[in-house]
Amino acid sequence: MIKQAIIPLAGLGTRLLPLTSVFAKELLPMNGRPGIEYILDECIDAGIKEVIFIISKKKIMIKNYFYNDNFYKKIISKKKDLRISNEYKKILKYKKMIKFVYQNKPLGTGDAVLKTKKYIKDKYFLMLLPDDLILKENCSKSMIKVHNKFKSSVMASMNVERKTISRWGIFKIDKKIDNKNYLINDVIEKPSIKNAPSNKAVIGRYILPKKIFSKLLKQKPGRGGEIHITDAIQSLIKENNKFIAHNFSGKYLDCGSMKGYIKSSEEIAKL
Ligand code: UTP
Repeated sequence: MIKQAIIPLAGLGTRLLPLTSVFAKELLPMNGRPGIEYILDECIDAGIKEVIFIISKKKIMIKNYFYNDNFYKKIISKKKDLRISNEYKKILKYKKMIKFVYQNKPLGTGDAVLKTKKYIKDKYFLMLLPDDLILKENCSKSMIKVHNKFKSSVMASMNVERKTISRWGIFKIDKKIDNKNYLINDVIEKPSIKNAPSNKAVIGRYILPKKIFSKLLKQKPGRGGEIHITDAIQSLIKENNKFIAHNFSGKYLDCGSMKGYIKSSEEIAKL
């Protein structure tokens, strides 16, 4: 059973400057709600019981969003507004399931994951990247089903345009399991078009084995001097650990770049 999820939130968000110079991108409104709430709802609906947020001191605003009790209590006692009371109840529900760990230097997604090492209890855990919203169909839930069936690691995947390949982690298919699931035998972080083994990209949902921590402990920085989670996954695949790419059916919204954020906000309002 997958009961724990981790969410790396300690990145700088440079692609969303100037918004991110003072604001955490994960709290930016998407149709009136912070993006991170969509991610938390996905976790809850998928049966996750504990979510570990990896934040930094610079992004303490994310913790404050969930720990603003005195403020809410004062307002609610003065103003009888059902909407505000319900919003506060929702925040309390989220807060109960969140634990915070810190990565004060943004050394990469792999380094962020490593910060959760001592809190992961089971053999597998879920990781969600909050820049990637997937709506309409719960991607994490369907990945957990695949994991339960095949007892393997799973990554969300999607076909991308060839000209955009160098923005993504791209994987190589070993064999097709069914229409939605592929066994993979390699994954490369941001390859050139020439070196890309396919046009299938990894999207920000992963079911990872606890043994990835021992790989991360030894891992040297890769592309751009960062410790990438993709490189640790690649080492596990090379040692014959089973990884399945799952073609999800939900609606994908990229919220990590300025263009993507603007487009996603418009699309989400129409859903
Ligand atoms: P990205 O590299 O896509 O986002 O990391 P970023 O670094 O926040 O933003 P840009 O690229 O400068 O615009 C994917 C996810 O991993 C987290 C980020 O917060 C984001 O949610 N992350 C990244 C960390 O937690 N720590 C890191 O060292 C790097």
